[in-house]
Amino acid sequence: MLMQFGESLVELIQGDITQVDTDAIVNAANSQLAGGGGVDGAIHRAAGPNLMQETKRLYPEGCPTGSAVATRAGNMQMKYIFHAVGPIWRGGGQDEEGQLRSACIRCLELALEHNCDSIAFPAISTGVYRFPIDLAAQILLRTIHQFVIENQSPRRVVVVLFDEGSFGAFSQVLESFADS
Ligand code: APR
Repeated sequence: MLMQFGESLVELIQGDITQVDTDAIVNAANSQLAGGGGVDGAIHRAAGPNLMQETKRLYPEGCPTGSAVATRAGNMQMKYIFHAVGPIWRGGGQDEEGQLRSACIRCLELALEHNCDSIAFPAISTGVYRFPIDLAAQILLRTIHQFVIENQSPRRVVVVLFDEGSFGAFSQVLESFADS
């Protein structure tokens, strides 16, 4: 599913983010940048051990929740990985929405800083961190919309959903942009 946001194209696909052809991909990391399962595990497996070495060297202190840091992409063909630390869902009263939004904005800023014309996001925080998928879809797509309208960049944003349910949730929210 595709939609034009100003000068930018936003695309939803169902699949594996390690296989996309964008300049940068976003990882759903933890604040220790220690690796894990889910999309983090898939990215580290595809990138190879150099990725963890580089991450530890550049960011020994990790990365705060609601932010993101950049590394190269090891054996993958992208130029960069932006390691975003989304919030753990604790019921919604701990500014989880604001933290998800700021992690997403930081990734888009990193794309600008590193001259990336294209970036791919996973559904940050919606797996192990249990953020409700419909709310995550609204926050991510609204944040991307606002950012690309204001900055005319990145020109292409791909949101990669791993399972059908997540793809359906994001599709519904994106369709609602067509009516607004
Ligand atoms: N490509 C795209 N999306 C994927 C992939 C993949 N290869 N693998 C999993 N996903 C999806 C999940 O289905 C989920 O919708 O990414 C979304 C985010 O889920 P998680 O990877 O569990 O990330 P998150 O909820 O942010 O939890 C982060 O989990 O793996 C650990 O180290 C990570 O501690 C951190 C925590």
